[in-house]
Amino acid sequence: MNDAREIGFVIFGTTGDLTRRKLLPALYQLASEERIPEKIRIIGFARRPWTNSDLKQNLKQGIQEYARVKPVDREKIDALLENAIYVQGEFEKPEGYETLFEVLKKEGIRDRLYYLATPPSAYGDIIDNLNQCKNAVISKKPGWTRIVVEKPFGRDSESAGILDEKLHQCFREEQIFRIDHYLGKETVQNILVFRFANGIFEPLWNSHYIDSVQITVAETVGVETRAGYFDHAGIIRDMFANHMLQMLTLTAMEAPYAFNAFSVRDEKLKVLKSLRPLEGRLALENTFRAQYGSGLIDQEPVKGYLEEERVNHDSTTETYLAIKLFIDNWRWSGVPFYLRCGKRLKKRSTEIAIQFKQVPLSLFNWRNLAGDAPNILKLRLQPDEGINLSFGAKTPGPVNEISPVQMDFCYEDAFGSEPPEAYERLLLDCMLGDATLFTRSDEALTQWEFTTKIMDAWADHPIKRIPVYKPGSWGPQEADAFIEKDGRKWLNPD
Ligand code: BG6
Repeated sequence: MNDAREIGFVIFGTTGDLTRRKLLPALYQLASEERIPEKIRIIGFARRPWTNSDLKQNLKQGIQEYARVKPVDREKIDALLENAIYVQGEFEKPEGYETLFEVLKKEGIRDRLYYLATPPSAYGDIIDNLNQCKNAVISKKPGWTRIVVEKPFGRDSESAGILDEKLHQCFREEQIFRIDHYLGKETVQNILVFRFANGIFEPLWNSHYIDSVQITVAETVGVETRAGYFDHAGIIRDMFANHMLQMLTLTAMEAPYAFNAFSVRDEKLKVLKSLRPLEGRLALENTFRAQYGSGLIDQEPVKGYLEEERVNHDSTTETYLAIKLFIDNWRWSGVPFYLRCGKRLKKRSTEIAIQFKQVPLSLFNWRNLAGDAPNILKLRLQPDEGINLSFGAKTPGPVNEISPVQMDFCYEDAFGSEPPEAYERLLLDCMLGDATLFTRSDEALTQWEFTTKIMDAWADHPIKRIPVYKPGSWGPQEADAFIEKDGRKWLNPD
């Protein structure tokens, strides 16, 4: 029996990629910075017939390969993995869970964090089996129990509702941590700091001064090894229903009464509730889908989506999506938000661009190279994290001309280092019990409610031919037409 408090970090699906690539490197980083509040005991649970030493060996390799800061400190890795335990079990059968609880009891581990790092199809079985054993979910005092659920949290309103109900049969909402890794990104959190720790931006942050907002998540990668999952999900489930909507809420929400899990999430929820529903024809008119063809990325030939392994040969699943939406509340009434995300685009870049309105009266009848509405504030979330404001300035010399110029803040220059990995912050927060950066039940369900209406409209009017775009482009021409019909242009990352 152990007297010192220890967190039992139980990873279901510990033999998978997420554990090696993300979870362990993040835990190692936290441990080496001595940020973890208690000792930590890693307990891996999966099907493969591994031993404790197989587990340690595998996790060690994962850390060595994927650690953010290199070279790694071998002693710290060994200390983190020293007492790691492997429990073999089938997710659907009770035996493995019985062994797991015996181990937890024998080791005197009362603070328990269950991490679902399995394919989502196993979530139901794991939760049911945890629920069978009441001692698994209700910890004896002193001690706490939490569960971390990876995305995707369901695939539509109905399945998310079922999963949520199942979770609530065993856990109280404060015990449930739904991960959206975008919220762990330093620059995503900085949206709130930028808005609410500075006095000068917020008075302008509304429909009186803002013409439109664009949120772009562009990736150069394709669907990689996940084509089987992606072909049934599409980018709407993979990116839009979670990461994109979360960034929208942070951009649009009101100031919370305090920076805590209740208040921040209450405000985010209000934004989601204010979204004008996109149903039927409205959904078709305000969304645009496309799929990548074959071509070149960085001079290297890449397959088209339809040639990817495990993609249906006549699939119309979208790898690019643009959506125009409105937030029907006082602050944002009439301001269009254009959200777009895509794979195999020109550049990896996540940006929020705030386009300010024109001046009320144009005084300078000069050559204006900055355009009529030159004020664009860009929050660059990744890579090359920073913030940029563009405005018009008089071109030097005896000429009547206005040029576009930039004020630029770059994270790395200002702070001397790149921001940490999202998982570091998120894992630390769930060990500390702070759910501010996790999606609450009502948020997750409202995100699905909005998204499912769009998917229903698509299902009712199946697309016959999905536009195809060249890898390394900003999408097909029709994507430009989608926004140009409103007299606006995509503000592409530089
Ligand atoms: C994941 C999606 O949630 O986010 C992936 O499932 C996507 O398809 C990834 O590539 C993007 O994350 P990041 O942190 O690389 O922007």
